[in-house]
Amino acid sequence: MTKVISIINQKGGVGKTTSTINLGCALANQGQKILLIDLDPQGNASTGLGIEPSTRLKTIYEFLLNPELDPSAFITNSKIDNLDIITANVDLSGLETEVAENNKRAFFLKEIISKINEKNQYNQILIDCPPSLSLLTIMALVASNTVIIPLQTEFFALEGVSQLIKTIERVKQNLNKSLDIQGVILTMYDKRNKLCSQVESEARRYFDDKVYKSVIPRNVRISEAPSHGMPVIKYDRNCTGTLAYEELAKEVLQQYKSGVAA
Ligand SMILES: Nc1ncnc2c1ncn2[C@@H]1O[C@H](COP(=O)(O)OP(=O)(O)O)[C@@H](O)[C@H]1O
Ligand SMILES: [Mg+2]
Repeated sequence: MTKVISIINQKGGVGKTTSTINLGCALANQGQKILLIDLDPQGNASTGLGIEPSTRLKTIYEFLLNPELDPSAFITNSKIDNLDIITANVDLSGLETEVAENNKRAFFLKEIISKINEKNQYNQILIDCPPSLSLLTIMALVASNTVIIPLQTEFFALEGVSQLIKTIERVKQNLNKSLDIQGVILTMYDKRNKLCSQVESEARRYFDDKVYKSVIPRNVRISEAPSHGMPVIKYDRNCTGTLAYEELAKEVLQQYKSGVAA
């Protein structure tokens, strides 16, 4: 069965998009069939995979408004084997007001994902969430089996986390009973910075064994890769960022094997 995972944190700049692209690519490299859904009007996941705004003709925005259409019209092959994407652009920022009157709006994404899954062609669908707890994020939570939370290992890393957890709990109670936190990724870790290890301890205390052992280092190759339209794994095969995301992908797959993640 296809696993649907939201990569979520209402803070911007914590590594959601970077983790969606690179975890997705690492899983694809390990033989998993992956679909990324760019659910952020900024469209960074689409850009990061080298899909320029002018070539994004059929985006998630149109799909959400026209769920009866054939999913294949919205799915773009990335240049990476086993990795497809549904792109986004700024149009998506208008969705919330346009569907405000529709009382089924929280289920729109779930509906189209069910349609995609009729073909049973993906092992995982990763949703790159916007930096907010707005309708788009609620849609993602309703459509997901689990969430993965990237935390930037910086001062204030855990600020806002309780609000995020509350939102997840609320969706779980009312709209998606089986929703679960699959894991927490520590991102932009700098071992020379004492603060990072303090934040790591704090996060491991708060989330316990939900925090992945693979920590993503601050690595300039990771930040350069999107401007070349590539995941870091393609951009620099051997850098520390690539190796960390590959280890992370192994851990995620192991969660399914051992039954830790549904
Ligand atoms: N491990 C890392 N090392 C260096 N730069 C990173 C790393 N992870 C993310 N970045 C950079 O930090 C910025 C924010 O990351 P991004 O993934 O876009 O965050 P979000 O999607 O949560 O807003 C981007 O410029 C990205 O390239
Ligand atoms: Mg982002």
